[in-house]
Amino acid sequence: MDRIEKLLATMTLEEKIGQLVMAAGSQAVTGPVLGGDVTQDVRAGRVGSLLNFWGAEETRAIQAVAAESRLKIPLIIGFDVLHGHKTIFPVPLGEAAAFDPALWMATARAAAVEAAADGISMVFAPMLDVARDPRWGRIVEGAGEDPFVAVEFARAKIAGFQGADLADASAVAATAKHFCAYGAAEGGRDYASAEVSERALHEVYLPPFAAAVAAGCAAIMPAFMDLAGVPMTAHAALLQGWLRRAQGFEGVIVSDYNAIAELLRHGVAADLVDAAVLALKAGIDIDMMSGAYRAGLPKALDQGRVSIREIDAAVLRVLRLKERLGLFDDPCRRGKRSAGGEEARALAREAARRAIVLLVNDGVLPLSPSIKKIALIGPLADAGYEMDGPWAGASQRRSVSIREGLASALPGAEIAFAAGEGDDAQMAAELEACREAEIIVLSLGETAGMSGEAASRADLGLPDGQRALAEAALGLGKPVVALLSSGRPLTVPWLFERASAVLTTWFLGAEAGNAIAGVLTGRFNPVGRLPISWPRAVGQIPIFYAARPSGRPYSPDDPYTSNYLDLSVAPQFHFGHGLSYCPFTLANLRAERESFGPADTLQFSVEISNEGPMAGEATVFLFARDVVASVARPLLELKRFGKIALDAGESGVFRFALPASELAFPGLDFRPGIEPGVFEFSAGFSADAQKLLTLRLEAAGRNRIGA
Ligand code: NOJ
Repeated sequence: MDRIEKLLATMTLEEKIGQLVMAAGSQAVTGPVLGGDVTQDVRAGRVGSLLNFWGAEETRAIQAVAAESRLKIPLIIGFDVLHGHKTIFPVPLGEAAAFDPALWMATARAAAVEAAADGISMVFAPMLDVARDPRWGRIVEGAGEDPFVAVEFARAKIAGFQGADLADASAVAATAKHFCAYGAAEGGRDYASAEVSERALHEVYLPPFAAAVAAGCAAIMPAFMDLAGVPMTAHAALLQGWLRRAQGFEGVIVSDYNAIAELLRHGVAADLVDAAVLALKAGIDIDMMSGAYRAGLPKALDQGRVSIREIDAAVLRVLRLKERLGLFDDPCRRGKRSAGGEEARALAREAARRAIVLLVNDGVLPLSPSIKKIALIGPLADAGYEMDGPWAGASQRRSVSIREGLASALPGAEIAFAAGEGDDAQMAAELEACREAEIIVLSLGETAGMSGEAASRADLGLPDGQRALAEAALGLGKPVVALLSSGRPLTVPWLFERASAVLTTWFLGAEAGNAIAGVLTGRFNPVGRLPISWPRAVGQIPIFYAARPSGRPYSPDDPYTSNYLDLSVAPQFHFGHGLSYCPFTLANLRAERESFGPADTLQFSVEISNEGPMAGEATVFLFARDVVASVARPLLELKRFGKIALDAGESGVFRFALPASELAFPGLDFRPGIEPGVFEFSAGFSADAQKLLTLRLEAAGRNRIGA
């Protein structure tokens, strides 16, 4: 028996169940306010972990209370650290736009360092839900529409949070969430059901979680919603069958907030005993905030509906995580170092400027260095606190506003500011003051609270009176540069048509204003690319690049083809779209061979030239298509992405290595395999099929080969 098994052998049932209970502190509110002070429960050993609680002193004090309990078992302290802890980085969807796994990892590492310094040992991140419906407010928390990007994001984030050794004082346990298909919530309504085919589950929604398990992720959180009638909190087939048995996940499964008790409202449990039985049998170790385990497990055990072995197995997993986190050796090993500071801020600036996507530019940007008069208009222009976006619970709320950023980047320029709020007369008076400007910078979009959990929207236009403000500003007859702050694409086709330049700036965090000013002035040449197809209208949703071929693909000459009567089927901007101040060109996509076997690694090269007047970075995507297969394959599937930095006028060669095994897909029997025949490989700067370079290679053989 090791020390954990010995400890388990000494525990009472109440103490065992205590280890399965996560209670909320009151420093942040991330769910319904349930329960009160937890100190007594901690002292009595009735609570094994806390959330929404942090601070070096506070966590030290509560660990001291835990040390007064009979068995002195330390607490896990968890918190939502989605994009930074004190120093806020861009929201994940924005950070995904950087297409830069090293950056994704670095910001997770920095967030872990700050969170750990605050006594936190577990983060409820990364969010790995592939999301193809921007009505869903939580699209902001993940890496966008593509499973391959989400896989890379998962690996980078988990490595960043957990570091090389979970026992390190700066390491935190990562929680991959929300398992799974939460991004498919019907109509984009948060907490709503999802109906997802088995194929989509295996091709789209599960791969990021498989990657998380392979990366050693310490914990997984099931999603709130039901998948075809089975709430994920009770989904034994996916949690026990797929996650634990097929993927070999040995870590902790922590429920979402109150989710076990919500099995009653889902209509699959009649009372808390039922709910506790369903959740425990499905493999859920920790009950976050619902009280169902505490109330239900003793009765369920009495009634023989769960066994002590099942309870023990869950308790062991929790204790083992505490051991891996080094908590038994020193419960306060975290919460000791001061962290953050200038280094984290510099990283926040780098991440923020890399997240910005230049969507439209008629040449007005970068701003001329001789510019003297700028009008800065809009309700978000002077709102540093909104730049943090959702899930910034421990933020110091000192994010740099757009106004501050522009003022410090352009000390010689006069910046007239108008929030543009109020009635028509006020707005007109404010705009009058902007008439003298050479250029208008218009700051539009969502407030932080309009994205994230419980922030679904049926209309993706500009909120409130912002359209009227934008129209009035456009009416002044000056060039307009529009900045869109948001956690999702906004459907503003009229703005894309009429503004001289439009940038999506997501919620960029601590250094938002400086990053934006850096891009507007051309001190930083934009590199961000869309991790999501940008719809023209809500009616196009869901819209994503990896569509399957239609038997009647759209043809302008034939009405009986896949199309809308009233709108184009093309997105406003393709996945991967994003402009630079340099035009880049792509030529000569080559492969080293013409045919390949399943064990080969394919080598591709493509030439890229910077035809612009300044240094820049191009992002190149490699897509594959299995042209004829037993199951219709998507027209394009992302297999690789990469970046290349090129000086003005410079050319370079980008190389991709792709093991053929990554061309496998679930066949008719859902087993992964590669099928012989022709594959197309395409390279480009976005998923715009018209602009891709494509070559064809032959997969040799006669039969499907299992992978
Ligand atoms: C509910 C959210 O769905 C989840 O992502 C989060 O981690 C918990 N609340 C805790 O705040």
